[in-house]
Amino acid sequence: MSEHTAPAQGLDAVEVPEPGAVTLVVPTFNESANVRRLLHQITESVPARMACEVLFVDDSTDDTPEVVREAAKDCPYPVAVLHRDEPVGGLGGAVVEGLEAAASEWIVVMDGDCQHPPSLVPELIEAGERTNAALVVASRYLEGGSRAGLAGGYRVAVSRGATLLAKALFPRRLRGISDPMSGFFAIRRSAVTAEVLKPLGYKILLELAVRSRPRQVAEVPFVFRDRFAGESKSTAREGLRFLRHLAGLRTASPAARLAGFGLIGASGFVPNLVGLWALTALTVPYVPAEILANQLGVAWNFLLIEQLLFRDRRAHRRWWDRLGRFGLLANADLVLRIPLIALLVDRFGMGVLPATALALVMTFVVRFAGTEALVYLPRRRGSRARRAA
Ligand code: GDD
Ligand code: MN
Repeated sequence: MSEHTAPAQGLDAVEVPEPGAVTLVVPTFNESANVRRLLHQITESVPARMACEVLFVDDSTDDTPEVVREAAKDCPYPVAVLHRDEPVGGLGGAVVEGLEAAASEWIVVMDGDCQHPPSLVPELIEAGERTNAALVVASRYLEGGSRAGLAGGYRVAVSRGATLLAKALFPRRLRGISDPMSGFFAIRRSAVTAEVLKPLGYKILLELAVRSRPRQVAEVPFVFRDRFAGESKSTAREGLRFLRHLAGLRTASPAARLAGFGLIGASGFVPNLVGLWALTALTVPYVPAEILANQLGVAWNFLLIEQLLFRDRRAHRRWWDRLGRFGLLANADLVLRIPLIALLVDRFGMGVLPATALALVMTFVVRFAGTEALVYLPRRRGSRARRAA
């Protein structure tokens, strides 16, 4: 994924895995008190049933990598540590780097704090082979599973709410996945499309299910146990990241963005009308008041669109450049709508109401396409290189 991961310490220790083998990808952040025990649990339950190797993707500031290397000496399977000096994308980014580095047919992602029982790994793979699934989720919400290890009623409620929200937003993509928040799952390497993933924080399974779209999914119940040592790194900030992650996933398709654009545009009537009311109360004449109030609606739309719709597409232009272009498009829309209505009525003999409605729809679609193309579409690399040459 990124260059700084190339000289990963210990990665050369990974042998070419046998076909059907599994790579356990374990993201770690300061888990030195847990990793020895985790490797021991893996030794006890996995190699007897299937060939495995373990890849830690580590962002620790403690001595987790050293502890892993020391403990690996007692392991009858290869263990590697990919330490990242720059922890891009947090937990999700670490998992994606692990998915990219893994070479075996199956990859299992599991936490490094012993909350995910390694004894379940062979079952996950077997379920995948049996049902021909590309993704097998260890679920806390199936009969026989439980979330015993979620610390406190607050976290249980948050986790449940997040699950319901995600399922409501993606009813089709998450069909068959009762626990899209699970951090414990097996995926076929052929189903991983790392290049389309834009992980943001903790919810990497959600990212995979929505963006990689594995054709078939299976689930296996599991009991989310207590952390062995240390404490969770999940914070309220992770919660906000999760909401941004959901917004980004939900507006990834052009049709969804068009709908979002329409909703935001409609909400702009509120500041527009409030502004108009305030300005006329200040005895500003009608026409300048109308124009000024419109700019208020435009500014409102711009802010929401920037925050919710094109958040990750802002880097290639400065904010005043984007605002200027957006404002020009919005005002051109207003100026052009009246002549367009006149044209539809006079030339095409339409009634005033249908002509107005049609003009609204037409200018809306044109403005959406224009906003995408002229404000938020990155300049093509080729054209910039050509200009520079
Ligand atoms: N490399 C890396 N970088 N690893 C990280 C980072 C990071 O920035 N942050 C956390 N980790 C590692 C931890 O060291 C641990 O091995 C694993 O990711 C999970 O982190 P925890 O802090 O223990 O998360 P949790 O127990 O609160 O959440 C788990 O359960 C959730 C379900 O409620 C995770 O599995 C979540 O993905 C899952 O949604
Ligand atoms: Mn944990």
